[in-house]
Amino acid sequence: MRIAVIPGDGIGQEVVAAALPALDLVAEIFDLDATVEQFDWGADRWLRTGVGLPEGAVAQLRAEFDAVLLGALGDPRIPDMAHGRDILLGLRRGLDLCVNHRPLPLATGTIELFRENTQGLYAGVGGIVGPPDRPTVAIDECVYTRDTVQRFLRYSLGRIRDAGQRRVTLVHKANAVPHTGRLWRELYAAELAAFPELDGTDEYVDAFCYHLVRDPGRYQGVVAPNLFGDIISDIGAALLGGLGLAASASICPQARLALFEPVHGSAPDIAGTGVANPYATVLCLALMLDHLDHRAPADALRAALAAARAEGGTPDVGGHDTTGAFMTRVLAALRHQHHRTRPREVTAQ
Ligand code: NAD
Ligand code: IPM
Ligand code: MN
Repeated sequence: MRIAVIPGDGIGQEVVAAALPALDLVAEIFDLDATVEQFDWGADRWLRTGVGLPEGAVAQLRAEFDAVLLGALGDPRIPDMAHGRDILLGLRRGLDLCVNHRPLPLATGTIELFRENTQGLYAGVGGIVGPPDRPTVAIDECVYTRDTVQRFLRYSLGRIRDAGQRRVTLVHKANAVPHTGRLWRELYAAELAAFPELDGTDEYVDAFCYHLVRDPGRYQGVVAPNLFGDIISDIGAALLGGLGLAASASICPQARLALFEPVHGSAPDIAGTGVANPYATVLCLALMLDHLDHRAPADALRAALAAARAEGGTPDVGGHDTTGAFMTRVLAALRHQHHRTRPREVTAQ
């Protein structure tokens, strides 16, 4: 496995540095060959050189890597997040990662949330009328193509079915935003026809958010356009117990190369204080191993996270651990499982 790592900004750098030893350890335990190459794309380089996503980066990632791990982007010195759009949205679009899987393992059952990841209000179509510092009109268009919505829905419905779920909900706002809303509903109905196992329904995003908070057990599979999916994922993270717990996989249905990133951002309010929660980033490593068909090490990481979480946690989830202290628990739990489940190999070493 060749893994490109983009720590990014703020706590992105902290959680990535903390999580990578878990990849090393799980690779050692399961005898996997994992090489990591780091890229310094982020705010410092942008401010120094004006370069966000360097020329040729997308082609290099496609040619040389199996997966990308990204910490987070965002820096108070760049209030409009221009570098973040260039790097993060540039990678999502450039690598055609139209599916963003953000699983929500809740006590009421897991919600498999799938967010479209490249178009909609993030398509980058728009502009202003008037002077840049005081425009009279500002436009961001919501753009969806038939091809992307269809590929997104076909792949996501397949994953929801494969996860053993029966109910699926399309989230939209077709009452107020009719053109893209109609396209989504038409393609949803057409794609659902190929999944007789799934019981499909749809809800307006406002009512969906209301029900999600009051009764998350109502949902199993969820498919959503880009911005709605973004907002729903932070509500979902709150239901999980914190943003530091939510992980995501950005996937192209037609390619193996995928990008893994926590749902949270660079958290400038806690950056540098050593208490960022690395849980979501370790969970990203598990999603990455799943995606590359290494199920046993992925399960080992998830089990180690659960064991560590049962013993402690960082302040955002009510604990007193530093980032490093929590990772010490995760690594100890990994070693402990290993000794328990593979005694013969340990003796032979
Ligand atoms: P945020 O997700 O960074 O933080 C929201 C709140 O959650 C903060 O109080 C923060 O301290 C807390 N939090 C987040 N992750 C945490 C963790 N791992 N451990 C403990 N606490 C955690 O959202 P924000 O403050 O709106 O955004 C900060 C910057 O990050 C902005 O520049 C934004 O554009 C960017 N951002 C980037 C990404 C990404 O790169 N994928 C995602 C979201 C936001
Ligand atoms: C996320 C983030 C990004 C998004 C931002 C930083 C552009 O909020 O990954 O959830 O909106 O997709
Ligand atoms: Mn978000």
